[in-house]
Amino acid sequence: MSGSTLAYLGGDPINTQPLPLYNMIGDEEKRAVAAVLDSGVLSGFAAQPNDDHYGGAVIRALEDQFCETFGVRHAIAVNSATSGLHAMVSATRIGPGDEVIVPPYTMTASATAVLMTGAVPIFADIDDEIFCIDPASVEQRITSRTKGIMAVNLYGHPARLRELKALADRHGLFLLEDNAQAPLASIDGQLSGTFGQSSVFSLNRHKVMQCGEGGVVITNDDTVAERCRLMRNHGEVLVADLGIEDIVNTLGLNYRMTNMEAAVASEQLKKLPAFTDARIALADHLSARVAEIPGITPPTVLPGYRHVYYMHTMTYDAEVTGIPRDLFVKAVQAEGFQLAAGYVKPLYLEPLYQKRICFGPDGFPFSANPNIDADTYRAGICPVVERLQNRDLMWTAMIYPPLTTSFLDGFADAIEKVIANRDALLADAAANSKVA
Ligand SMILES: Cc1ncc(COP(=O)(O)O)c(C=O)c1O
Repeated sequence: MSGSTLAYLGGDPINTQPLPLYNMIGDEEKRAVAAVLDSGVLSGFAAQPNDDHYGGAVIRALEDQFCETFGVRHAIAVNSATSGLHAMVSATRIGPGDEVIVPPYTMTASATAVLMTGAVPIFADIDDEIFCIDPASVEQRITSRTKGIMAVNLYGHPARLRELKALADRHGLFLLEDNAQAPLASIDGQLSGTFGQSSVFSLNRHKVMQCGEGGVVITNDDTVAERCRLMRNHGEVLVADLGIEDIVNTLGLNYRMTNMEAAVASEQLKKLPAFTDARIALADHLSARVAEIPGITPPTVLPGYRHVYYMHTMTYDAEVTGIPRDLFVKAVQAEGFQLAAGYVKPLYLEPLYQKRICFGPDGFPFSANPNIDADTYRAGICPVVERLQNRDLMWTAMIYPPLTTSFLDGFADAIEKVIANRDALLADAAANSKVA
């Protein structure tokens, strides 16, 4: 098979079937939603200083389940992880002039949550083994304005949370966790999401457990929890009646989750251990196969860490395969598989940071911090991220049921086929570049 013509060059692809959707919605979710619809109460929230402030029984049941699963005192269900990030960052009481250290290799909301408070994100580089924020780089970024660290447990592998917590404690900073991609990941049995002051989960359509759109903040801190609830539900008109005197960052929005979403999320959380085991089995199989292929390195799992594989990453060495990464990825895709070159543009290279325009035309909140200048977000500040994005990193999401280990064998065969056809691929690329 590896000798046959590449699909990219007009041959037959290895996989001819469309990729199945990741769809783990079963009868339990359907029954749970039907019960909500039958009840007629599609949302239990109202911005009143009474029980309705907390969302009612369906929301409370989901929150209790999160508390039990993660062994924490509080869970606050919201309508997205983005909302949850905003609420949890606001709950730290930071504001204009403050800095939070964030990795640039993450979904944009991990950093914009900081901007929403009037503080600014300062980007630290990542660790090239696990792709999460590097404690050594964080330490170099600490200034007198630094208030906290946002760790993102990327792709399903926990960041070096113990080291980050120790660093945060040493410098009197808070540690927050964006755990959107890593529910049930752990370090020596301690679940990610429980190392920081608070953490957030996502329940969006693409996550391992989903309810359409949704998020949950967890924390052991009573004040943080109360503030997140105020942010969720128009807090400014509730604080007086609730007797809350410290009103810093209690300006609320409508971050309320509906009962239909909570009902689905609750069923999904029950099934999360099984979903996770299935992904780990598929990812381990794929890792074992690609480990045999020179030039492709499967993801590192640090000793004692549990990786839950939101994505399966691979590092690529073009010097070994002889094929530039982006051409290699296109050729594997043509064989009928999903593979991506790089993850996201390092966040600091986005116009938001390059132009430093956020609220209004005058550069607030960047302008509120005299430390920020053109160098703060210049290309080159995080060389590991830039190398991974531009040269070394690939990822696939194809580690979910109903995909099987034999499907993944086909994927590994496709990788081998592309490498075996290197000369034809390079000759074609050279001919095309001459034409162009
Ligand atoms: C690391 C990370 N943080 C935050 C989010 C935002 O999640 P949501 O879509 O629930 O707002 C995502 C979603 O892609 C994510 O991957």
